[in-house]
Amino acid sequence: MSQRKPSSFVSHLECPKCNKTYSVDEVNQLCDCGTPGTPLLVRYDLKKLKTEWSKSDLLTREPSLWRYRELLPVKSDENVVSLGEGMTPLIPLKKLGEKVGMPNLLLKDEGTIPSGCFKARGAAVGISKAKELGIKSLAMPTNGNAGGAWSLYAARAGIEANIVMPIKAPKITRSETAIAGAKLYLVDGLISDAGKIVGRAVQKNNFFDASTLKEPYRIEGKKTMGLEIAEQLDWEVPDVILYPTGGGVGIIGIYKGLKELQEIGWIGEKMPRLVAVQATGCAPIVKAWEENKKESDMWEDADTLAFGINVPKAIGDFLVLESIYETDGCAVAIDDETIVKCQEEIASIEGLFVCPEGAANLAAAKKLREDNWIKEEEKVVLLNTGAGIKYPYDPGKPAILQPDEDI
Ligand SMILES: Cc1ncc(COP(=O)(O)O)c(C=O)c1O
Ligand SMILES: [Zn+2]
Repeated sequence: MSQRKPSSFVSHLECPKCNKTYSVDEVNQLCDCGTPGTPLLVRYDLKKLKTEWSKSDLLTREPSLWRYRELLPVKSDENVVSLGEGMTPLIPLKKLGEKVGMPNLLLKDEGTIPSGCFKARGAAVGISKAKELGIKSLAMPTNGNAGGAWSLYAARAGIEANIVMPIKAPKITRSETAIAGAKLYLVDGLISDAGKIVGRAVQKNNFFDASTLKEPYRIEGKKTMGLEIAEQLDWEVPDVILYPTGGGVGIIGIYKGLKELQEIGWIGEKMPRLVAVQATGCAPIVKAWEENKKESDMWEDADTLAFGINVPKAIGDFLVLESIYETDGCAVAIDDETIVKCQEEIASIEGLFVCPEGAANLAAAKKLREDNWIKEEEKVVLLNTGAGIKYPYDPGKPAILQPDEDI
């Protein structure tokens, strides 16, 4: 077994549109091509990595996303800010799977991660790299969960965080942000409105802009979901992965991570078909996919209770669509009523209280199975991006008993 101290093989940032390269040792945000600019992707020396890293190196590593240290962008261990995030369980949904004609149905449960949401992955890697780059204060728009996670990791790193979220974001994410000592601002609007406020604040106050895909490192944290799924299935990728898509960082990340695993020879040619799941109240990616377009249009009057995916226009939409087209995947929209029914179904049959965004995946998988787009024997992974307890749920009207009453 290798005794070598893990390090990063990170080499540079690259624009996926014009291929211009940028350094990972200084602050870089968007490529200057296009309007409002293009997200940059982190590149590694995969040729070198292929000869110097092996699967057996993982055997003695901690069960966190930092086990994939070589494929992460942080250079020095001193800068790693970790709360033990990653290696979430991949749980077989046997009973539910049989009920819906998919006996090989699995759920990756991100509800068990620090902050109760997969956003901790992006925050851990994003904040670690921000620390490495010497950043002292950042600002970000959020639909709630990312703001909570980034505030907590920023506190641990000693970085000041300025968070702007819609008034309608889940209330608990306000608490996470505030208790971590971040500056919390609410906006009577959508995440796109919060984004505009952050854009002005960045110009005025010289904050680091930590908006989705405007800093290149959050995606590196999220890609570890793909690396974990591959490792947990013994390096045989599933047939289908369903992902609740808002800004799309998770689906882009999973695709990127799996491509990197292919390049270093850890997985074969097969890619899972990636499915972007959205809500009917906000489905710009689904619309673009149905129209076979490369980019999405702004979705008017976006509204869904699955708040994390209430994103009317994602800056990385072209990358989301590419990951779907390249894997022969698809995009599906689900209405709020069905989302809640699926939440109840997963909890009452499998004992998992998933978030609405995660529950939307079940509805989408059922629909795709009915259309025979998913075949019975296929291995299907639902990504539950967070804990259901972070969201309001109406338990109905429980009976109120007097102490001497029986049930
Ligand atoms: C619970 C949950 N699921 C999914 C998403 C969408 O994430 P992504 O930006 O990766 O599409 C979010 C984003 O806020 C979220 O909070
Ligand atoms: Zn460019």
